[in-house]
Amino acid sequence: MVGPRILRKFSGVVVLALLGFVIFILTVGTPAFLIRIPTSALLDVTASSIKGGSPLGYKLAYMGAILLVVSQFYSIRMRIGIHRGGLRAIPGPEWLKMHAYTGAAGAILIQIHSGFPLAFTYSRFWEHLYPGLGLVGLIGAHSLAAWLTMIVGASGILGLWLHRRSKDLIGSSFKYWLRIHVALSGALYVAGTTHLLIAVLFKHTAAI
Ligand code: HEM
Ligand code: HEM
Repeated sequence: MVGPRILRKFSGVVVLALLGFVIFILTVGTPAFLIRIPTSALLDVTASSIKGGSPLGYKLAYMGAILLVVSQFYSIRMRIGIHRGGLRAIPGPEWLKMHAYTGAAGAILIQIHSGFPLAFTYSRFWEHLYPGLGLVGLIGAHSLAAWLTMIVGASGILGLWLHRRSKDLIGSSFKYWLRIHVALSGALYVAGTTHLLIAVLFKHTAAI
């Protein structure tokens, strides 16, 4: 029978593969990231000029996405990491700090890229879903991803507070919080990757 430890390691490999897919799309988007920002864009910075696919907005999204990918190495360390005894390889506090700081910084950059709060035009994601058009019709995925980034980031702060308060992490309310945090992160992965595929691989704009 497959043991829980093997399953945990396998889930870590799955997370690694999913992150690999994001890194692949980001690699495809690298030439656009390397384009120099025109001086005019730096002289007239507004909430609208630094969002979406604008020269600044793109760079913010790219760096934010890299930070979110790096923050997920915590999960990989937790699942694949070498551990002595115990089912859960709980990484040291410096790993959790790394996860929290990179997760929070990435979420902030992504929110600016989304136009939040001053130019968050597509906040009603359900109004921008056109399933009849196939994948590119799921344009509203970008604002769903923006909401999820906000919620996951905020939930992280709550989790950190529970983590510091709980003496028994496995048997406390922390356990339930962790399940929600992980489920929301999964939803963010799906919505965010859909947006990346549309915007970076298919170079489709929200103009439909
Ligand atoms: C979880 C991560 C991300 C979220 C939540 C997100 C969210 C959004 C939102 C809400 C918009 C619409 C902005 C507007 O015009 O009002 C947008 C546009 C755009 N994003 Fe992202 N983004 C993310 C990551 C990325 C990354 C990593 C890239 C590129 C490497 C990228 C490239 C673009 C481009 C090119 C547009 C303009 C295309 C369009 O108008 O549909 N995004 N994004
Ligand atoms: C959008 C950003 C974030 C994403 C996608 C994310 C995702 C995750 C995932 C997938 C895990 C589970 C690790 C595992 O069991 O494999 C986790 C754990 C955790 N995250 Fe986040 N997170 C984010 C931001 C944050 C922030 C900003 C904080 C704190 C301020 C935070 C605090 C925590 C804590 C306390 C844990 C549990 C650690 C443990 O079990 O020992 N997260 N996160």
